[in-house]
Amino acid sequence: MADDSAHLLLTVTDLHKSFRGVHALHGYRLELRQGDLLGVIGPNGAGKTTLFNLLTGLVKPTKGRITLGDADITGMRPEAVARRGIARTFQKIRLFQSLTALENVRVSAQIHEKASLGRVLLSSPGFTRRERAVTDRSRALLARVGIGDVAGETVNRLSYNQQRRLELACALGLSPKFLLLDEPTAGMNPTETAAMIELVQDLQREHRLAIVLIEHNMQVIMNTCRHIQALNYGKIIGEGAPDEIRRNPLVIEAYLGQSQQKPALPTRQAAA
Ligand SMILES: Nc1ncnc2c1ncn2[C@@H]1O[C@H](COP(=O)(O)OP(=O)(O)OP(=O)(O)O)[C@@H](O)[C@H]1O
Ligand SMILES: [Mg+2]
Repeated sequence: MADDSAHLLLTVTDLHKSFRGVHALHGYRLELRQGDLLGVIGPNGAGKTTLFNLLTGLVKPTKGRITLGDADITGMRPEAVARRGIARTFQKIRLFQSLTALENVRVSAQIHEKASLGRVLLSSPGFTRRERAVTDRSRALLARVGIGDVAGETVNRLSYNQQRRLELACALGLSPKFLLLDEPTAGMNPTETAAMIELVQDLQREHRLAIVLIEHNMQVIMNTCRHIQALNYGKIIGEGAPDEIRRNPLVIEAYLGQSQQKPALPTRQAAA
């Protein structure tokens, strides 16, 4: 991972989450800097989405600490976390179905606008000017993720692939420093998957983002991320470069022991 301590740091120490006695996450730790791209893998129920829910304030930890720079953000509400620069996409797409693509991006762009202003001056013409700036920025984001041509369409008229890209545009609307992507290529064909991953990598470079990528396609994650964490039953069972993860007996066992829902670890040749 990048070694520049001058960058903003997201630190997680000894994070736990239990749901009625089930350890969804157990003793999790993380250090993430701007520019890092961390892959997170693990069988169904390993705790990957729970990790994102904890990092973004959707659920509160049973124990542990999350800090962003000097600020303790443990247990902070989702909107407050978003304003501090942590954005995410969801495993199951969450968009306002009856709003247009543009309106969806505007919602998150406005959250960022309020955060950066500190207060909203409702008096025109400043207000009108800012509204226009939010719209322009939202349109630019839609174009950047490749769906500028459907800005005026309601979500329910968009293809699945377009909706995935719209989610990404909404997350970018928050001008995040940290972007958490929960299986962004789920349900996509190989061509769509490759295009999505290329877009994510380009966006990371353009915005100097730190990205955490949950991905069930092993080949994709091994080719994309230089650093990977493997979870099983809420615990980190392996961490390191793709080659280390491939060789890790606990990781191999976790994947051999699961159902056919997720593919086995690729061989070195297959991943190359
Ligand atoms: N809100 C909740 N209430 C109760 N149990 C939950 C809740 N959220 C997650 N869990 C449980 O926590 C464990 C981890 O779930 P999580 O969704 O984080 O797994 P995951 O690694 O994202 O799995 P998948 O690959 O299927 O998406 C599972 O046993 C799940 O049933
Ligand atoms: Mg999940």
